[in-house]
Amino acid sequence: MAEPVASAPAAPVPFHYQGGQLYCEAVPLAEVVAAVGTPVYVYSQAELLRRARAYLDAAAAATPRHLVCFAVKANGNLTLLRWLAQAGLGADVTSGGELFLAQHAGFPPEKILFSGVGKTRAEIETALAAGIHALHVESAMELAVIAKTAAALRCVAPISVRVNPDIAAATHPHISTGQHAHKFGVTAGQAIQMLREANAHPWLRPVGLAAHIGSQITELAPFAQAAQALCDLAGRMAEEGIAVEYLDVGGGLGIDYTNEGAPNPADWVGTVAAPVVQAGYGLVMEPGRSIVGPAGALLTQVIYTKQQAGKRFVVADAGMSDLIRPALYDAFHPIWPLRQAAGDQAAERYPADVVGPICETGDTLARERPLPAVQPGDLLAILQAGAYGFAMSSNYNGRPKPAEVLVTGSEYQLIRQRQSYEHLLDGCL
Ligand code: LLP
Repeated sequence: MAEPVASAPAAPVPFHYQGGQLYCEAVPLAEVVAAVGTPVYVYSQAELLRRARAYLDAAAAATPRHLVCFAVKANGNLTLLRWLAQAGLGADVTSGGELFLAQHAGFPPEKILFSGVGKTRAEIETALAAGIHALHVESAMELAVIAKTAAALRCVAPISVRVNPDIAAATHPHISTGQHAHKFGVTAGQAIQMLREANAHPWLRPVGLAAHIGSQITELAPFAQAAQALCDLAGRMAEEGIAVEYLDVGGGLGIDYTNEGAPNPADWVGTVAAPVVQAGYGLVMEPGRSIVGPAGALLTQVIYTKQQAGKRFVVADAGMSDLIRPALYDAFHPIWPLRQAAGDQAAERYPADVVGPICETGDTLARERPLPAVQPGDLLAILQAGAYGFAMSSNYNGRPKPAEVLVTGSEYQLIRQRQSYEHLLDGCL
């Protein structure tokens, strides 16, 4: 057996131990599993709304001209979206499907932004007909299609240009977006051309400039740089008589997966707001992960354990079809047993690979992770999983998607049914 290693740090709020049991708010998670089974995503409503309000309050403190749009791609559960809409957030959508969800959840169209490099003409038509706040344009070709569509519909299209500020920020290469080598946005020179064109076009109205430099970024400096770059560009346009209304600083604030700390939303908003407000523009932002990530956990049951060639494996009933982040980005998620070993806050822990049942070597939820000895039937919580967890789930290996549950104080409700095998036949002819 390997040497015991140091015990893991305290579970992030709102998941916490009480009497040796892991709770979400005031609900023992074992109770949720008994009722709903595993794998299941569990979200804390209090944490979700606390984080949403942190953004709204900080934005309101910076300027009355603000719009905080939740990046729906991080989590498109309808119940969660409804709560976020009700709290006063807008929605940043990336597809016709997300627009449909956002409208269904009750986000008012004037609080919806449409981002993304590949909007189709059909999606553009739907967005214009819905009367959304703005389309964020990512190429000259897209601008031309928006102009044509708007003219055909005889409605003026509000557009912002997404600039690629060529700023490197430390994060996983797959989720870094703000450099010229990435497919996102246009160069400052192209943005100037596009704003001039839009300004001269009868069916286009240039309203903003946007940037989004990447995701899971835990330093503030690159965000300050991006906000400043937007201000500089907007200033240049203003000199030409093209005055945009708002600057959209994107999302991207990281969360604390590894217990090393991450800036809080208020600090982030303060950083990006300072130059934007000083320059006299409205402030728009598109956070996703930092609102919903820490509010969610994925619960899974241990099916088997095995030792081979000096390695310990814990085979769980959740895998990369439920949570692909570790397989795709080598992402770290804290893993906590639902029940602490009796009378023991710091049970001996041994490194184990926590793997799923899927037929791929990459189907690993954690590598060499210090865990107490677990048995088949034991339950584990994979924390910080509220963002890009369910949203990136799939039916790979014929696996129905997991259930989702929302905890509110001492109550919980099912907010998405576990898929049945029948779902696997959906759309098959
Ligand atoms: N705005 C735009 C234009 C975006 O592309 C994104 C994320 C956001 C806002 C929200 O960023 P956030 O605040 O969530 O960092 N699947 C990856 C993350 C991909 C992020 C894509 N864009 C992951 O699991 O880490």
